[in-house]
Amino acid sequence: MNKKYSKPTLIQGGMGIGVSSHQLANTVSREGGLGVVSLTAVTVSFLRRLMDKEEDYLNACEGFIDPEFVKEVTLKYYGMKNNEAYQMIEMPSLNPSAFFLKAMVLSSYVEVSLAKKGHNGVIGINMLEKIQIPTLPLLFGAMLAGVDYVIMGAGIPIRMPQIIDQFSNKEKANYLVKLNDSSQPQVTYEFDPNDLFDLEPIEIKKPKFLAVVSSLTLANYLLKATHKPDGFIIELPTAGGHNARPRGELVFDETGEPVYGKKDEIDFEGFRKLGYDFWLAGGFGSHEKYKEALSLGAVGIQVGSAFAFCEESGFTKEIKEQVIKQVLEDNLTVKTDFLASPTGFPFKVADVLGSLHDDESYQKRKRICDLGYLREAYEKPDGKIGYRCPSEPVEDYVRKGGNIEDTVGRKCLCNGLVSAIGVAQSRASIKEKSIVTAGNDAIFIKRFIKPGNKHYQAIDVINHILYNK
Ligand SMILES: Cc1cc2nc3c(=O)[nH]c(=O)nc-3n(C[C@H](O)[C@H](O)[C@H](O)COP(=O)(O)O)c2cc1C
Repeated sequence: MNKKYSKPTLIQGGMGIGVSSHQLANTVSREGGLGVVSLTAVTVSFLRRLMDKEEDYLNACEGFIDPEFVKEVTLKYYGMKNNEAYQMIEMPSLNPSAFFLKAMVLSSYVEVSLAKKGHNGVIGINMLEKIQIPTLPLLFGAMLAGVDYVIMGAGIPIRMPQIIDQFSNKEKANYLVKLNDSSQPQVTYEFDPNDLFDLEPIEIKKPKFLAVVSSLTLANYLLKATHKPDGFIIELPTAGGHNARPRGELVFDETGEPVYGKKDEIDFEGFRKLGYDFWLAGGFGSHEKYKEALSLGAVGIQVGSAFAFCEESGFTKEIKEQVIKQVLEDNLTVKTDFLASPTGFPFKVADVLGSLHDDESYQKRKRICDLGYLREAYEKPDGKIGYRCPSEPVEDYVRKGGNIEDTVGRKCLCNGLVSAIGVAQSRASIKEKSIVTAGNDAIFIKRFIKPGNKHYQAIDVINHILYNK
C-alpha cells in the first residue's frame, strides 16, 4: 500500500466490543490503512486485562497525564482477580465517581496509545451514538493519545464535530442523553476535563470526524449543523454488528431475514454531489468490490467481517478457530436478530458452535445486568433518574416501569460480547457464554485462507482487497 497517502483508502471497521483490538488497528495502520479501535465498553476490557496482569496495558499507562491516578488504578486492579471472577466495575451513569471518570479516560488513552505504538500511520476510534453516557470521557482519553479519526455510528451524531472542537481547545463539552418516560426527552451531561486534569502543559490535536450513515437524508441533516463531519461512511445492511432498520414496512423473506427495498437504496449521485469524502461499508471486503466502490466515487471502503477472524483481531482463539472451521465446512450462518440487542436496532449474530446463539443456551442463561453499557436512563416517579435495560432480569425491568414485551428475546450483549474477546465473567465457576456478531461477508473469509491453513492474518486481507493478491 502507498504509505504516503493523504486519505486512507482502506478503513478497518470499528468492531465492538474489542474485536477491533489495538493489535489489529496497529497492524492495519502500519500497512497504510486506517486502523480503528472500538471504544465500546473499553473500560471493562481494560480493567479486566489489568486484573489478568496483562503487562502491555500496564506499560501503556505510562505517559498518562495523571501518574498518581495510574498508581491508584494499578493498586486497585492489577492482578486483583478473585479466584476466577473479575471484580465488579462501576456502571456508566450520569453521576459517575471521579475515579470511574478517570478510569474511562485512561482506558481509551491506553487503547489508542497501543494502537499508535511504533509507527506513524493513522488511528481511529469507533463509538456508537446509542451508547451515550461514556462518550465524552472516552473521546477525551482518545484525544489525549493523539487519535487521528473519530468514527461514530448507530444514531445521529450531530453534536460530535463541535465536541471534538471543544476538547481540542481544552474546553468542557456536553452531550444530550436520551431520557425515557419523561416530559424532557433528554438531559444534558457535561464533562469538563479541567475538573480532572491539569491540561496546561499539553497540546490536544483535533481529529477528523466521519459519521456512519445509511442514507443521504441523514448525511444532509448532519451537514446542516454549524460544525460538520469531515466525511461519511455509508454502511449497507449486510455489515456486521448493529444495522439500520429497513425503511417503510417491515417485511421478512422466507429465511426470516429483513427485506431492504427501494427506499433503502443509496443515492450515490446525491452523495457525490455533496462534495464530501465518503467510504462504502458492508460487503466490500474483496478486490472487485473495492474497485466498484472507487468507481462509485468513494475514497475507499470500510471493511469489518474480513478482519474479524484474522489472527490480530480481538476474538478469542477458540472463536476464530471454530468460525474458520465452520466456514471451511460451509456451515456458518449469519442471521439478523431483531430482538437480541437492547438498543432495538437489528443485530447480526453468527451461529458459532458453543456460543450463545441458539434458543437453548439463551434460555439457560440467568439474566443479570452488571456491566450496564446499554442501560437507558429514565425518569422515576419521584423525578430522580434511574437506569434499566431490557436484557436485565424481567422483574427488575418491569418494576422500573419498562414494558414486559420489550424484554422478549433480548440478550445481554455486554456480557456476551466481552466474553467473546476473552474477558468473560465467571459466576460460581460458570463462565458467561460468548455472542459472536459478524456481517454476511464472514462466510467469504475462505478467500484469505491459504490451502492447508486454518488461520489468516490482517495482511492477507489487505493484500487481497487492495492488490488482488
Ligand atoms: C464483529 C463486528 C462488530 C462490529 N461492531 C461495530 C461497532 O461496534 N460499531 C460500528 O460502527 N460498526 C460495527 N461493525 C461494522 C463495521 O465497522 C463495518 O462497518 C462493517 O463490518 C462493514 O461491513 P463488512 O462486515 O461486510 O465488511 C461491526 C462489524 C463486525 C463484523
